[in-house]
Amino acid sequence: MRDFDVIVYGATGFTGRLVAEYLVSRGATRWAMAGRSRAKLAEVRDLIGAPADTALIVANADDPASLAAMVAQTRVVVTTVGPYQLYGGALVAACAAAGTDYVDLCGEPAWMRQMIDAHHAAAQASGARIVFSCGFDSIPFDLGVLTLQDHARARYGIPAPRVKGRVRTMKGGFSGGTAASLKATLAAAAREPSLLKLLASPFALTPGFSGPHQPLGLLPEYDGSLNAWVAPFIMAPINTKSVHRTNFLLGHPYGTDFVYDEMLVAGLGDMGKAAAEAIAKLNPLASDKGPKPGEGPSKEERETGHYDLLFVGLMPDGARIDTVVTGDRDPGYGSTSKMIAESALCLLKTESAGGVWTPGAVMGAPLRDRLQARAGLNFATG
Ligand SMILES: NC(=O)c1ccc[n+]([C@@H]2O[C@H](COP(=O)([O-])OP(=O)(O)OC[C@H]3O[C@@H](n4cnc5c(N)ncnc54)[C@H](OP(=O)(O)O)[C@@H]3O)[C@@H](O)[C@H]2O)c1
Repeated sequence: MRDFDVIVYGATGFTGRLVAEYLVSRGATRWAMAGRSRAKLAEVRDLIGAPADTALIVANADDPASLAAMVAQTRVVVTTVGPYQLYGGALVAACAAAGTDYVDLCGEPAWMRQMIDAHHAAAQASGARIVFSCGFDSIPFDLGVLTLQDHARARYGIPAPRVKGRVRTMKGGFSGGTAASLKATLAAAAREPSLLKLLASPFALTPGFSGPHQPLGLLPEYDGSLNAWVAPFIMAPINTKSVHRTNFLLGHPYGTDFVYDEMLVAGLGDMGKAAAEAIAKLNPLASDKGPKPGEGPSKEERETGHYDLLFVGLMPDGARIDTVVTGDRDPGYGSTSKMIAESALCLLKTESAGGVWTPGAVMGAPLRDRLQARAGLNFATG
């Protein structure tokens, strides 16, 4: 019996604080806030209206003993201490050793692969479920494809060999932590060019398996399935890898010849083409003028944000299945904080083997149902 069900590690950060606030709003009891400064944790606890007796745990990412002591007290750790490639490795190791479940918001695929190689076996042995990418990247994409493929198999007896993920709308901003994570990935690739190959591979997270050639999605193009122009989507290199890992971990229910890409819908006709070309040249996270760690979109931006994703499944006989995933709140923070908190709560109710998982592979339909019932997501297939 452990003291807590959930510890939110990084509760003083921009996203961690939202996760803690969400747990308070849900009336969570067996939980604690953790971070590297007790004074800052106490300040945030009072600011978010958490009960005064909410437990506060001090653990520094540079101090493995403090991490081991923290993870021994809980069934699951929710961590928003990022960039993960700078601060996350010792925590994954501690959870894998202690049999403690772990969920994060990682969008750093080279580090994820290193963690799979280093800790998958230990997590299998201890029973720890390590689940990366429990936010906007990659849950709506991972579960969107899973939902479409469930329908394809039920309706046609086979999975769709080709699925297109298309972001129709996405309203929201980004935080300092997200900008720092992308910059850390670029800096690591500049230091170690071999990482570029891993980052470019859609199968970077499926050790020992490579499927067919996948569309690169690097240039604007006209998409005949939508009659619209589409542009490169900044999160595609992360999500597509997670979708292929879900297929891999589940024994390839989408087939070993599965082809998947993600692009942003830019618009129709000449205007759509011009917009797609402009988007392809843009990199909003590259500027130094963006938010600093601890900063992110305002409450109003979070509450008025939303997203709408279309997944188009193309069957060999020409039939088509559409799955639409929508979410209230801005994708990166308002919706993400609900998704990661609900992932932790869902994991507590899910029996499965230990290992390094994806949300879709380890929680699948129960997580989808929970997000629809409690977190403002909707999944519709026609
Ligand atoms: N996948 C998604 O959809 C998604 C969405 C949102 C965020 N994210 C990711 O989530 C992460 C957090 O983003 P954010 O904007 O919330 O970042 P942030 O505001 O900078 O928060 C970072 C947190 O890490 C803590 N921290 C830093 N160094 C530490 C150390 N040595 N030991 C212990 N704690 C330490 C900070 O503590 P102090 O307060 O003491 O500085 C803070 O609590 C990033 O990696 C970002 O990419 C992903």
